[in-house]
Amino acid sequence: MSFNIAIDGPAGAGKSTIAKKVASQLKYIYVDTGAMYRAMALYILGKGIDPADSEEVAKACADADISIKYIDGTQCVFLNGENVNDKIRTNEVSAAASKTSTVKEVRRKLVSLQQELAASNDVVMDGRDIGTAVLPNADLKIYMTASGRVRAKRRYDELTAKGEDCRLSEIEKEILERDNRDMNREESPLKQAEDAILLDTSDMTIDEVASTILALKSEREV
Ligand code: DC
Repeated sequence: MSFNIAIDGPAGAGKSTIAKKVASQLKYIYVDTGAMYRAMALYILGKGIDPADSEEVAKACADADISIKYIDGTQCVFLNGENVNDKIRTNEVSAAASKTSTVKEVRRKLVSLQQELAASNDVVMDGRDIGTAVLPNADLKIYMTASGRVRAKRRYDELTAKGEDCRLSEIEKEILERDNRDMNREESPLKQAEDAILLDTSDMTIDEVASTILALKSEREV
């Protein structure tokens, strides 16, 4: 039986940084489900389809072949045979992914891929609906959040480090819009699972958050 850790929360809460660290300490696989939704959004943008046009997105997503491979321990997302890791972290793809991920057909396709990975591997999986919909029987569920300002600053630092030109106020506005869409959509909205543990990381260091999760994991094993 595999051990599954689910980490959900809004954009910029620190999920991927923490999930990667925890997974590497435990020698588990880190599954970044947001990257799969981003790859799908990239496909839709490449087809010239409006990400808000749910009907067209539902039709087109059937032809997108999305898969995951681990290369030197790093998760790589393949879209129709191409490793698209370097193309999915832009603001345009973020906004599009938040729209295309509201479509039922998109979710159905990616959720089954995520469930297959978790069934055959020990995983730390992060996203928006892992504890509520993808892995409702996960062994440990964390709902990670932080204030809107702190989350925007983290995203801003990430983007400027990559040389992207952006403004903090603009990022904060986009993050709040994205939260609103992710939390209020009909299909698997972002919400804390009843049995998830809430962690507000606004004033915590990465190491503090990671060791809190590792301690919770050890408790669960006893
Ligand atoms: O975690 P992220 O920023 O890479 O996610 C990008 C978008 O994908 C996010 O706005 C919502 C969507 N998403 C989702 O709907 N369900 C998930 N499990 C993960 C991401």
